[in-house]
Amino acid sequence: MKKQKIKIFPSIEKLAINSAEFLKSKIEKIPDGNFFTMALSGGSTPKQIFKYISENYSGKINWNKIKLFWVDERCVPPDHIDSNYKMIYDSFLVKVPIPEKNIFRIHGEANPNEEAKRYAEIIKDNVQRENNVPSFDLVLLGLGEDGHTASIFPNQLGLFHSTDLCIVSKHPQTNQNRITLTGKIINNAKLIVFLVTGDNKARIASEIIEGQNSTKIFPAKLVIPSNGELIWMLDKTAAQLLNLDNDKIIREE
Ligand code: 6PG
Repeated sequence: MKKQKIKIFPSIEKLAINSAEFLKSKIEKIPDGNFFTMALSGGSTPKQIFKYISENYSGKINWNKIKLFWVDERCVPPDHIDSNYKMIYDSFLVKVPIPEKNIFRIHGEANPNEEAKRYAEIIKDNVQRENNVPSFDLVLLGLGEDGHTASIFPNQLGLFHSTDLCIVSKHPQTNQNRITLTGKIINNAKLIVFLVTGDNKARIASEIIEGQNSTKIFPAKLVIPSNGELIWMLDKTAAQLLNLDNDKIIREE
């Protein structure tokens, strides 16, 4: 892996402010006529960050330059409480004017296998390629306490290595079908950001970031950008078990 940074923030608010400024700076560099392609994950952490951005940066970012995708989706209708689209719509899209034609939601209500194929084609048609694989400008990931990321769970590691861009997975506890991007496209992104907050994530974050000797392979540990950059953005509670001598750690004020 070329570049990895670990940014630790004193609070989720500071993490949100930095995320907003970071996104703003990336989009400002996009030449006219081009797009910033980003894929968002579900979960409560991304929800808090995007709510902050929508409430404080709605007028500060050129939203016409974004093409918005999802990393994963639960196989439910878009108005269902479990829907990642609904979560991003309610916390973000209601306040920021991304043109409808540039919002590419995963159809959780559709036949899962058919939708995984459809969505892969949508991505191929709208995301520039690198090494003949679509390469998102930004993939935003969360981290589950079990080490899952996207909707690839520890008991389904093989799915991460699928030759497909998008596949169907199943939540190990609820048996809920999920549609998720695979490692092939996640690791081909120009920038991958893990957003991790909360005391309950401290152990798994330490395991994934520094657990070099651990024999257990977690899906999140397989996230290794082939050419891009990986940035971990944690609040101090999630980072509390990290070895702060790690030269990759940047402590943000
Ligand atoms: C999902 C997400 C999932 C999530 C992690 C972290 O659809 O649930 O894609 O990978 O990002 O479980 O979720 P929290 O931020 O809520 O802990």
